[in-house]
Amino acid sequence: MSNTKVYLTRVIPESGMKRLKDYCDIEFWRDDAPVPREVLLEKVKGVDGILSMLSDPIDEDVMDAAGEQLRVISNYAVGYDNIDLDAAAARNIAVCNTPGVLTNATADLAFTLLMAASRRIIEGVDYVRDDKWITWGPKLLRGYDVWNSTLGIIGLGRIGAAMAVRARGFKMRVLYYNGGRRSEYETECGALMVESLDQLLTESDFVSIHCPLNSDTKGLIDSSALRKMKNSAVLINTARGPVIDTDALYDALENNEIAYAALDVTDPEPLRANHPLLKLPNCIVIPHLGSATLSTRDKMAEIAAENLIAVLEGREPQFRVK
Ligand code: DGY
Repeated sequence: MSNTKVYLTRVIPESGMKRLKDYCDIEFWRDDAPVPREVLLEKVKGVDGILSMLSDPIDEDVMDAAGEQLRVISNYAVGYDNIDLDAAAARNIAVCNTPGVLTNATADLAFTLLMAASRRIIEGVDYVRDDKWITWGPKLLRGYDVWNSTLGIIGLGRIGAAMAVRARGFKMRVLYYNGGRRSEYETECGALMVESLDQLLTESDFVSIHCPLNSDTKGLIDSSALRKMKNSAVLINTARGPVIDTDALYDALENNEIAYAALDVTDPEPLRANHPLLKLPNCIVIPHLGSATLSTRDKMAEIAAENLIAVLEGREPQFRVK
């Protein structure tokens, strides 16, 4: 029996579970629903490490409930907006994430959403299932051209750049806005920096969000931003839901201020089936599947486990946020 204790807020793929089981004592939440807050606060007592999901808020109460021996929070995600970094730093707790391995899976999904929305694929599937397909129609489910169009990327990090590479294959002109900063990826992915978010919104046929969620990006796409977009524009979000003001998006879609939205992430998340957004024909919502491929989730499990073990062994983890 090891003295080292780790709590996992979910069961992760076997590659990571086995590595941790072999290394220390682990306890984990077995359910598919998130661990209830009161259970989390109880279960973390006395642990040296927490392996968390992006859906678990890890704040100072969780850290204090764990106790002074807590040394690492390893998030099973590249995003870490669910973790209070300042509280962790103040307690000398390392925060780790899993960047890189999910870049291509997430960009593939973002491009899938772009294609599905522009060519109205979900509406087409429903049309056939609902037995409405009587004949070929000259005006039936006409969508928007992807080839030769303009894609605006908000946040040109690894995933945004991978999206740009996919878009270049469709001969798209790719613009980006990176909070006013030049991206280190612009040359390799052939994206053009614009002066302002407004320029990106007004010139783009597709706008795809790839920035992290923080105080600068929360609500970035509000009603005024949506009004600047073309009426024919498609908005794609595979980053974090709160970057978009959900009520403003609903209004923009209902009033045809923009043509379509395709969302892998939402605010709130999860979105319940009776949410008004889901009643709109021009909105596709899927349940946060950006990194959901078998091999990507395996690699994320290995990295999350290795990050955690590295800190507990006093080594520098491969991916430390702070
Ligand atoms: C992440 O890792 O932050 C992604 O959102 C997971 O799909």
